[in-house]
Amino acid sequence: MEQLVYVSTSRVMPDSATIEAILSASRRNNARDGLTGLLVTGGRRFLQVLEGPSEQLAAAYTRIRADERHFALVQLSRRPIVARSFADWSMGFEQGYATSLASVVEQLTERVADPDLKAQFRSFAEMHSQPA
Ligand SMILES: Cc1cc2nc3c(=O)[nH]c(=O)nc-3n(C[C@H](O)[C@H](O)[C@H](O)COP(=O)(O)O)c2cc1C
Repeated sequence: MEQLVYVSTSRVMPDSATIEAILSASRRNNARDGLTGLLVTGGRRFLQVLEGPSEQLAAAYTRIRADERHFALVQLSRRPIVARSFADWSMGFEQGYATSLASVVEQLTERVADPDLKAQFRSFAEMHSQPA
C-alpha cells in the first residue's frame, strides 16, 4: 500500500458545482479501487492525499494529472504505508476560509499520526489562510 500527497492549481476559482463533480467521481472511483484520502481546497489551490494499493493509486494519479481543471501538480511525497490515515473516507473534503483553514485542517488531521503528513497540511493551511 502507498500514500501520495500532491498540490495543484485550479485553472479557475473552483465553484461548488465543480467541487461536487470532482468529489462524486472521486468517491465512486475510489470506492471501486480501494482508495481513500482527503482533498483540501484553499483559493485556487488543491492539496490531496491519496492512499491504497499501488497499482490503483498510480492509475488514479495518471487520470488526475491529465485533468484539465487543474495544472502545476507537484508531488510532495509518495511512500509505502502500513496503515491508512483516512481509512473512513473514499475522499474527504474541506474547503478553507469558513472559519480558519488552519483549525479545520488541524481537526481533520487529528487522527493522522505521521508528523510529516501533518506538517504538510499545516504549512498548506498557513500558506492559504487568507482568502485569495
Ligand atoms: C483536484 C482533483 C482531485 C481529483 N481526485 C480524484 C480522485 O481521488 N479519484 C478519482 O478517481 N478522480 C479524481 N479526480 C478526477 C479525475 O481527474 C478524473 O476526472 C476522473 O477520475 C474520471 O473518472 P470517470 O472516468 O469515472 O469520469 C480529481 C480531479 C481533480 C481536479
